[in-house]
Amino acid sequence: MLLDALNPHPADGLLALMSLYAADTRRSKLDLGVGVYRTEAGATPVMTAVKQAEWKLLQAQGSKSYLGPEGDLEFVRALQPLVFGATLVADLGARLTGVQTVGGTGALRLAADLVAGASPGHVLWLGTPSWPNHTPVFAASGLRVRSYRQFDAAAQGFDLAATLAALERAGAGDLVLLHGCCHNPTGADPSAEEWEQVIEVIVRRGLLPLVDIAYQGLGRDPESDAWALRRLVECVPQALVAYSCDKNFGLYRERVGALYVVAASGAAAAAASSHLAAHARASYSMPADHGAAVVRTILGDASLRAAWSEELRGMAARVNGIRGALAALGQVGAIELSPLARQRGLFALLPLPAAAIERLRIDHGVYMAGSGRINVAGLSMGAVARFGDALRTVQTAVAA
Ligand SMILES: Cc1ncc(COP(=O)(O)O)c(C=O)c1O
Repeated sequence: MLLDALNPHPADGLLALMSLYAADTRRSKLDLGVGVYRTEAGATPVMTAVKQAEWKLLQAQGSKSYLGPEGDLEFVRALQPLVFGATLVADLGARLTGVQTVGGTGALRLAADLVAGASPGHVLWLGTPSWPNHTPVFAASGLRVRSYRQFDAAAQGFDLAATLAALERAGAGDLVLLHGCCHNPTGADPSAEEWEQVIEVIVRRGLLPLVDIAYQGLGRDPESDAWALRRLVECVPQALVAYSCDKNFGLYRERVGALYVVAASGAAAAAASSHLAAHARASYSMPADHGAAVVRTILGDASLRAAWSEELRGMAARVNGIRGALAALGQVGAIELSPLARQRGLFALLPLPAAAIERLRIDHGVYMAGSGRINVAGLSMGAVARFGDALRTVQTAVAA
């Protein structure tokens, strides 16, 4: 029997960690594992503008009839200026098209399906470390993933030389995955000068960029966080942009995202759009509506939009405040925390041995991914010193 032959799939490390965290009865426990924004009190609340938009929708929505495989195209259009800026949207005109997707993950998968549909087994270059789901998503579409190191662990920064060398090796037309901002898991984004060099190689070698942007507004602000993506799109004839609204609108479980295609011509964009609809239809038929309707409602209402922007600004400020407090701890055992001040977004990657990560969990109730990734937003200001002490203690313990 076919199903009898299946062995259990290896458990997802982060999900297993969540279960251990839930079972831990210590009040002082810290969840630095799951990649969600948390308030100073440790909550991941529904944003105020989201609640208000939901209320508006509840009163105004007159039908739940099907929308179509592209999802809510009003949402897709409303999001465009936030992602690309109004000027670039106008400049791109019919070269820009998009569909609503099942979160950022769904956008990545649809992008991979589009490319693999046109060119089976196409090569995608992935800088590592990266979000652990990248490789499975791309491999599931039949893309061939080639990885290269893009993080300099010693300097805790983006490795420009290794990235440029990898892109020089890539074949013309190869797909290149780039994190738009707030790199997961390192927090280390290229500087503006480094982006220019990366873009230069992409243009010169005719590579196809796929920008994954899942944290716009959680780094500095929405405009600054989109700078690199916009600069890239200005320079290349074609690009793919996988966008998630799940973090910056706090809509995680509603699964809201979009995939944008920038094509060389309006006709090519229209053709790509028809393929995206076909891939969506063959996979999940159409995306769920609610989350996208919420985002569309917020973006289309000046006062909801202002409330959302303000709350998002406060979220980024809190994350950067924690980053500053961690950085101020300086050298903690063998780990230098000062680079965290110049990194951005929810994550940082601490070069800790597995034994130290385990001791943090068992002895101190500090839960973090096995890779050494911490979610900076999992800390409150009051917990930073305690975290620093625990970090020092476990390093001494495992070295002894
Ligand atoms: C880099 C990156 N891309 C994409 C995603 C997927 O986001 P979503 O939850 O919207 O599918 C995540 C989520 O953690 C992420 O970190």
